[in-house]
Amino acid sequence: MNTLKIAVAGGTGVVGKHVVDLARGRDHDVLVLTRSNGVDLVDGTGLDDALAGVDVVVDVASTRTMSAKESVRFFTSVTAHLLRAEHNAGVRHHVALSIVGVDEAPYSYYAGKVAQEQAIRDGDIPWTILRATQFHEFAEQLVERTTLGPLVVVPRMRCMPVAARDVARTLVELAEGTPAGKVPDLGGPREERMVDMVRTHVATLHGRHWVVEVPVPGAYGRAMRDGTLVPGADADHASTTFADRLG
Ligand SMILES: NC(=O)c1ccc[n+]([C@@H]2O[C@H](COP(=O)([O-])OP(=O)(O)OC[C@H]3O[C@@H](n4cnc5c(N)ncnc54)[C@H](OP(=O)(O)O)[C@@H]3O)[C@@H](O)[C@H]2O)c1
Repeated sequence: MNTLKIAVAGGTGVVGKHVVDLARGRDHDVLVLTRSNGVDLVDGTGLDDALAGVDVVVDVASTRTMSAKESVRFFTSVTAHLLRAEHNAGVRHHVALSIVGVDEAPYSYYAGKVAQEQAIRDGDIPWTILRATQFHEFAEQLVERTTLGPLVVVPRMRCMPVAARDVARTLVELAEGTPAGKVPDLGGPREERMVDMVRTHVATLHGRHWVVEVPVPGAYGRAMRDGTLVPGADADHASTTFADRLG
C-alpha cells in the first residue's frame, strides 16, 4: 500500500485522535488541522499552507452547539474553507464523517450535518461520506454537556452505538481507497438505550449523580425516540460492544 499524506480536520477530537493514531500506525504522513494546531477551519486561518502536498483530507471537526443556525454556520464555513483550500492544493479525496439518519431529522445540530453533506456533494473534490451512529463516547459527551449540579439530563433515545476507534478504522480504510460517494452506514453490534449507557458511565465517576431520562420535545426528539437514528438493514456493523469498552 502507498503511504499517503493525510490531513485530519478535527484530529484532536473523540474520533479524530483515533484517526490520527491509526493512520500513523499504517505509516501515513498525518497532519492535524485544529485550532490547537494553528488552523481555524471556521475562518480559514492557516489552512492554505497546511494542505501543501496533502493527498486526502479526513474531516471530523465538530462544534458543541445545539442551535441549528449555529451548526449550519459552522459546518458550511468549515466545509467551504476546506474544499477551497483542497482545490488550490490539488487534494484528490475528501472523506467526511456524518451521522445515521441526519436527513430524516434535519433539526438542531443535525441541520449543520445535512448542510455539510450537501456542500460536499456540490463541491469539486471527489468525496466519500460515511454516516455512523452515536459513539460509545457520546454517553460521556452528553454527561459533560447536560449535567446541572448532581442532575444529568438524558434524552430518551434509541441508538446502536459504535466505538469511536471502530469508526476511525473505517475512515482510514476509506481514505486509503478511491472516492466512493456515500458508503453504507456504520453502526455498532446491537441497540442500546442512551440512558443505560449514561448510567453505566456515571457509575464510574466520583460524587452522586441523578440520571433523569426526558423525552425531548419536537421533531428532533421524536427522531431520537422512534429509531430514525438506528441504521437500516443494509448497514455495516462494527463488533465492539458498549460493554466491551468497560473491560
Ligand atoms: N460524537 C458522536 O457520537 C458522533 C457520532 C457520529 C458522527 N459524529 C461526527 O463525527 C465528527 C467528530 O465528532 P467528535 O464528537 O469526535 O468531535 P469532538 O470530540 O467535539 O472534536 C471536535 C474537533 O474539531 C476541532 N475544531 C472545533 N472547532 C474548530 C475550528 N474552528 N477550527 C479547527 N478545528 C476545530 C476540535 O479541535 P480544537 O478545539 O483544538 O480546534 C476537535 O479536534 C463530527 O462531524 C460529528 O458530527 C459524531
